[in-house]
Amino acid sequence: MEIIRVQSAGFCFGVKRAIRLAKEVADKYQDKNIYTFGPIIHNNDVVRELENKGIRIADNPEVKESVIILRSHGIEKQILEKLKKNRNIIIDATCPFVKKIHKCVELLTKENYFVVIIGDRGHPEVKGIKSYAEEGNYIIIENKKEIKNMEINKRKLGVVVQTTQETENYLNICDELLKIKGEIRIFNTICDSTSIRQMETMEVAKKSDIMIVIGGKHSANTRRLVEISKLYCREVYHVENEKELKEDWFKNKKVVGVTGGASTPDYIIDKVIEKIRRIK
Ligand code: F3S
Repeated sequence: MEIIRVQSAGFCFGVKRAIRLAKEVADKYQDKNIYTFGPIIHNNDVVRELENKGIRIADNPEVKESVIILRSHGIEKQILEKLKKNRNIIIDATCPFVKKIHKCVELLTKENYFVVIIGDRGHPEVKGIKSYAEEGNYIIIENKKEIKNMEINKRKLGVVVQTTQETENYLNICDELLKIKGEIRIFNTICDSTSIRQMETMEVAKKSDIMIVIGGKHSANTRRLVEISKLYCREVYHVENEKELKEDWFKNKKVVGVTGGASTPDYIIDKVIEKIRRIK
């Protein structure tokens, strides 16, 4: 049985980097209280692993004289200032792609553009992004319908996008924005990591007799990988770990494709592959 693993399966570059930094910090600052500001990722195994290394979760900017690791999707500027003022050591694990958006917003604000942020209002990344704009000089748009109900009478619009937005939604919103008279400057800040994982999953699914998709049952990006796999492969199973695999699935199969969502650690993918290898 041949097993093909999707190269980009699992954590993206930004999350891998944040976890690596956190582990380095745990070794370096053994005599200090260490916190991530909010869970570093929505994966209980990873949070537990860090807890075992002495890294706890803080969500209160009042924390003092500790080591604070900022998550890959960044935090609000005002909270960061508060944490610095409280004499904390800041380890900035904000993904460089998210930091680039903060810079774009600062630049647009400086050049008198009204900032349009395309993204989910409640998402921590978007809350971080908006904190780099001036109060009253930005708007958050989640979908095209919202624009119709909004009064945007600005002569200069500057647009940025949350890194994980769907390209289609971004294009639809931009289509509407382009109807507004005046100058518009658009930064496409969508991160390629999700689309690359989806493309590679599609390619592997085409060659496979069975696809195993690993990730949380509630993870939207994992479910999307299941849907994509189903378009190209007749047998697709969504599992959270190796314990859910069933030997029957692999009977008379020659090629097995394996992929994983953005919050699936490498070691879980490895365990799944190991177990499939052992199946005769
Ligand atoms: Fe990950 Fe950074 Fe992209 S956190 S999804 S590589 S923006």
